[in-house]
Amino acid sequence: AARAFSTSMVADKEVKNVTVFGAGLMGAGIAQVLAHKGKFNVTLSDVTDKALSNGQSIISKSLTRIAKKAMADSSAEEQATFVQGIVDSIKVTTDPEAAVQDTDLVIEAIIENVGIKKDLFGFLDGKAPKDAIFASNTSSLSITDVADAVERKDRFGGFHAFNPVPQMKLVEVIRTTKTSDETYEALMDVAKRMGKVPVTCVDAPGFIVNRLLVPYMFEAIRLVERGEASIKDVDTAMKLGAGYPMGPFELADLVGLDTLSHIAKGWRDTRVKTGEIHAEAVKESKLLEDLVAQGKLGKKSGEKGGFYEYPAAKK
Ligand code: 3HC
Repeated sequence: AARAFSTSMVADKEVKNVTVFGAGLMGAGIAQVLAHKGKFNVTLSDVTDKALSNGQSIISKSLTRIAKKAMADSSAEEQATFVQGIVDSIKVTTDPEAAVQDTDLVIEAIIENVGIKKDLFGFLDGKAPKDAIFASNTSSLSITDVADAVERKDRFGGFHAFNPVPQMKLVEVIRTTKTSDETYEALMDVAKRMGKVPVTCVDAPGFIVNRLLVPYMFEAIRLVERGEASIKDVDTAMKLGAGYPMGPFELADLVGLDTLSHIAKGWRDTRVKTGEIHAEAVKESKLLEDLVAQGKLGKKSGEKGGFYEYPAAKK
């Protein structure tokens, strides 16, 4: 009987309007897939018009890639019309109050800083409809800590997508001890409607994927720091010997070396102290810190690169 009750509650409150905060790589990707695959009414919000237009350009580029393949028989004009149609369907605003006016679900993908996330959610808690669900796309912070800013703790969870969002099939749905069954089911349902496969995890550090990937990338960096093998050979080894689509250094460049360093430092300051994560797993790396200090942040740094260089001409 409990199950039937929970299902009907979800049916009563089907999510239609979704607001995404943060128009960076993750937020733009989530907004894109929500609009394109999920057919949700999507609003994308960020603090500046520049951030919003950058987000629109990320979406447009990704959809252009998708259209080239999915609409191979259509003309370039038809492909462009399809891309523009989806971009135009995503409302953009720098006004956070307007962004959540009639929202059913807020997905936050702003800077990985617990204080800033709490400020945003605390503000939205007083502005969004009382029954709207709030979710954070944080990859390394505690959902429970972020949810501390709101009254609606039963309607708060984690919704963690992966980079590149249009391509990666997974969403981690995170339940805190206070997340209600209805909220959890609604988040699972949204992930499925986006064409993703959701998995469930409690509010543990790094959830599933980053808990394994971050120490793995650090171990790869240490192996190279000890002079045991070259960056290229470690990547080749993991691709051809373990079947990974990318080696750990290519992956680190994709994630962003600043992001990787930031996650590890955050964990050293919190989860290592509590004993939740082993100190060795995320021990500071000189090689990584030197690259970050030089502004070599990975793929997003283009020519400057990270572990590898990404000249503009080479697609
Ligand atoms: N938008 C649309 N399409 C994209 C895309 C994007 N942003 N990025 C790649 N694609 C498409 C390509 O067009 C191509 O399509 P096709 O197969 O129909 O021709 C397809 O994806 C494959 O791309 P490529 O041929 O360029 O390269 P790969 O075959 O190597 O695939 C990859 C790229 C999907 C990124 C693959 O290498 C991969 O899965 N890598 C691992 C990525 C990963 O582990 N991500 C998780 C990072 S951790 C994270 O995000 C957590 C965060 O919180 C830190």
